[in-house]
Amino acid sequence: MKKQEELGTRAHHLIDTKFGARELRKLGELELKYLAEVMQGDTLSNYISEQSMTRRFEEAFAKKVGAKKAMAKNSAMAGLVEAVSVSGAGPGYEVVCDPIVHFGGLAAIYFNAVPRFADVRRDTYNMDPDSLLANITPLTKAVILTHMWGQSAEIDTIADICRDKGIFLIEDCAHAINSTWNGRHVGTFGDLGVFSFQEFKHLSTGDGGMTITNNAELFDQMRGAWWFSGESPKFMYVNYRMNEVTAAVGLAQLEKVDGIIETYNKTLAILNDAIAGCEWLKARHVPKQAHMSGYWWSCAWEGDKHGLSYEKFKRIELEMGVGLRFGFNVFPAYEFPFFRESTAYRTHPDCPVRCPFYTAKSNYRYTWGLTPVLEDLMQRLITVNLIFLSIPAAEEMAGMIRKLIKKMEE
Ligand SMILES: Cc1ncc(COP(=O)(O)O)c(C=O)c1O
Repeated sequence: MKKQEELGTRAHHLIDTKFGARELRKLGELELKYLAEVMQGDTLSNYISEQSMTRRFEEAFAKKVGAKKAMAKNSAMAGLVEAVSVSGAGPGYEVVCDPIVHFGGLAAIYFNAVPRFADVRRDTYNMDPDSLLANITPLTKAVILTHMWGQSAEIDTIADICRDKGIFLIEDCAHAINSTWNGRHVGTFGDLGVFSFQEFKHLSTGDGGMTITNNAELFDQMRGAWWFSGESPKFMYVNYRMNEVTAAVGLAQLEKVDGIIETYNKTLAILNDAIAGCEWLKARHVPKQAHMSGYWWSCAWEGDKHGLSYEKFKRIELEMGVGLRFGFNVFPAYEFPFFRESTAYRTHPDCPVRCPFYTAKSNYRYTWGLTPVLEDLMQRLITVNLIFLSIPAAEEMAGMIRKLIKKMEE
């Protein structure tokens, strides 16, 4: 028992909140400088002046990712919900989402649209374009595509599919600053790209987000919508705006974000190196077109295919205190009661799947078996949240992983 406690402390030492990429993004002089500028002005509201800190942050962000326009939000979830609204998806329509996270599905249901879940590729964990095609119906209005853990999905293929079929493409880039496909930044392929600045993302403002687009008309429509304080908006809208204090922190953090992501990429490479050559811990495949922005490290357990026991692996890992996490979410998004039991609308629990406006011929239900590849993968994923992992700690962890592999093969 005592041993267990000691090992617990050891794992905690490796994943230390004072170290890693998080250390690099510590609030400091630069944030204070921009905050002072805000305080010396006469408003904390971003829409009073065109010279606002928020405009500076938006312009700097747009420039960084190579987008024509950027609009700061109070969270990525707000950006996704707004994007679904702008897409025109609502009662009677479907939105195809990833099941590995639930954010896209939540945003669709917010507007009473029906999320359909496309399966992922076994080796990249990102949306499989073939499964996307299989999930497109005459009712599909939008796709919400996640670039999971900073690695671009096959965005050129998926953007082509959406363009051909007249479907609105929303890219969830919550984890994906600096992530590119063939040298082009993710978020710029679809109609809108949405980034998160929540506490545990590459760039953090505590809470916050950014929506980018190359479509100036769409941008003006969206910006027009939030000037509604004196009159009613044209369509469903609440306040998704960012304030000036948040923007000041965001602008300062943006200047540090490359160094932060570099640390993530280094720690990710160190852990990948530890499993190189191991036939039963499969590293995530990164297609040659993708330049990824490290976020969570992951690999897939395939020991069962080599006669090894996962239970034994987990037991030895615990004894050694390596600090691996088994799984990420334990089940796909559609297994949450929100989808499965339709708990979103308290007074009309049938909405949106059994909404009278929803005329789909198929009887779409959120049940086990919808995305078999992801369902299997979720039982196999082994992860490490890299945010608190310094480079020396990653090296130490890598050494322990190598020993663990050896012990399993003895
Ligand atoms: C893939 C993804 N999308 C969207 C969100 C929502 O971000 P926010 O907390 O900024 O609303 C998250 C947050 O963890 C996320 O991981």
